[in-house]
Formats: sequence, structure tokens, C-alpha cells
Amino acid sequence: MQPDWESLKAAATEVSARAYAPYSKFHVGAAALADDGRLLVGCNVENAAYGVTLCAECGVVSQLHATGGGRLTHFVCVNGNGDVIMPCGRCRQLLYENGGPELQVLTVDGVHTMDEVLPWAFGPADLDR
Ligand code: THU
Repeated sequence: MQPDWESLKAAATEVSARAYAPYSKFHVGAAALADDGRLLVGCNVENAAYGVTLCAECGVVSQLHATGGGRLTHFVCVNGNGDVIMPCGRCRQLLYENGGPELQVLTVDGVHTMDEVLPWAFGPADLDR
């Protein structure tokens, strides 16, 4: 079943306005649904030590766990204009861990599964081998 992607995008756009991005000036907002229907949002938070910047996706994952855990089922991230952007490589790994291969991602090329966004992913199952 497809969620209301426009509402999810709107939630991401709204939170992008609260990004703390004084260095790059590039605002990012992310929004996701959890498997119980919870809405989760996050924005990027930069740092004078550039390398420790938190991507918007970090906020989403933190809120997922802080509000009861579960799994991500649907995800989108946008820039400050509300245009869909792709999650960075590191954040694809975060999303894979918390949503798995079936997570639905609204990408610049429409809706794709996480498996398509991060093919041949290293994941929890690899640790069991
Ligand atoms: N950024 C995110 O928040 N998520 C991404 O997936 C891509 C990059 C942020 C990090 C930094 O604050 C700014 O965008 C420019 O790279």
C-alpha cells in the first residue's frame, strides 16, 4: 500500500526550515513512517568541526528509537526548496539497518525499495554468517 507521499514530503519540507546549517547553508529535511504509522522527522545539524555534522536521517533514526522503536516503512528527504534529494551513502546504510531491504524510498526517480537504493548492502544478516 502506498502512503500519502505528498504529506510525507510536506513534513520533510517543514522540518527542513529548522535545519542548523550555518556552514553549507544547505537545509535538509527528512520524514519517515514507522510500521505502526508513527511520523518521524529530522533535520541536518552542522558543527564547526565539519566532520561531525549530523545528517537529517540521523534525527529520523534517533526519533524512531526514542519514541518506541520499530521499523521504518517509508522515507523521503528534501532540500530547503522541498525538492526530493537522495540520502547520502552513509545514511543509506542507516536506513537499511532500520528499514531493511523492503523500505520504500521516494527518490528522484520515483518510489524505490531500499534494496534498489543500496544494492548488495552489508546488513545485520552478514554478521550471522
Ligand atoms: N545532508 C543530509 O542531511 N542528508 C543527506 O543525505 C545528504 C547531506 C546534509 C549534511 C550537510 O549538513 C549538508 O547536507 C550538506 O552536505
